[in-house]
Amino acid sequence: MRSDNKLAKILVQLDTGKTEDDEGYGNSSRTSKINKLQMDDGSQGMTGQVPGQRQVLELDELAFTQGSHFMANKRCQLPDGSFRKQRKGYEEVHVPALKQVPFEDKEELQPIDKLPKYVQPVFEGFKTLNRIQSRLWRSALESDENMLLCAPTGAGKTNVALLCMMREIGKHINEDGTINADDFKIIYVAPMKSLVQEMVGNFGRRLACYNLTVSELTGDHQLTREQIAATQVIVCTLKMGHHYT
Ligand SMILES: Nc1ncnc2c1ncn2[C@@H]1O[C@H](COP(=O)(O)OP(=O)(O)OP(=O)(O)O)[C@@H](O)[C@H]1O
Ligand SMILES: [Mg+2]
Repeated sequence: MRSDNKLAKILVQLDTGKTEDDEGYGNSSRTSKINKLQMDDGSQGMTGQVPGQRQVLELDELAFTQGSHFMANKRCQLPDGSFRKQRKGYEEVHVPALKQVPFEDKEELQPIDKLPKYVQPVFEGFKTLNRIQSRLWRSALESDENMLLCAPTGAGKTNVALLCMMREIGKHINEDGTINADDFKIIYVAPMKSLVQEMVGNFGRRLACYNLTVSELTGDHQLTREQIAATQVIVCTLKMGHHYT
């Protein structure tokens, strides 16, 4: 089939996995291969893609294959004061609550009303950023550097994600407060499909005052080209991320 020019073109567009021809097939070579195919006949191909420069993100290559099976700790030592109780059919492990590390000399919580004005509506109802967010907000909001935040459940990581989104949104706000909503897309990858709707609800509410649209893109909820064009924040799973380039 690959010898048939038309079919080969479709195959390259659809193929997200590697084949023997694709050995060492990195992002750039894949993109240029697709671009070349598009240029060969001067068309945009048969994929219904919006004209313009396209970038292919190989999410598979970014994925950490060991996922939640990864255990960096070779030894598991419980903190002082922990104890175990054998019960019928299960074991109870009691771990004392962590004591909060005292604030450093100049460390303080960042008041929401001292954040840049355009960010404040996202944090309506919050008085200050919490400790982790207060440490991170400048990196999230004032730089495009990658960020890795590892914090326990309930630590407030979602607000850090929102700060990162506001970084991008802030680049497209005009002086009169309007937003050039067609000039950017934000993709939020949730670890599980069950979390996608929850995040769409959360982000949708928090970004509604900016007139931004948040949509779900999963196996259960596909988006048409028009819907994608009308959406600024796409919440998907890693699996569905393949289909959006
Ligand atoms: N600055 C803040 N002030 C007060 N409450 C906050 C603040 N930031 C987050 N919260 C609240 O803390 C709770 C947990 O936040 P969040 O869901 O973002 O945690 P998480 O780190 O994403 O947890 P998980 O790992 O379970 O997803 C939420 O109810 C959120 O509203
Ligand atoms: Mg979370």
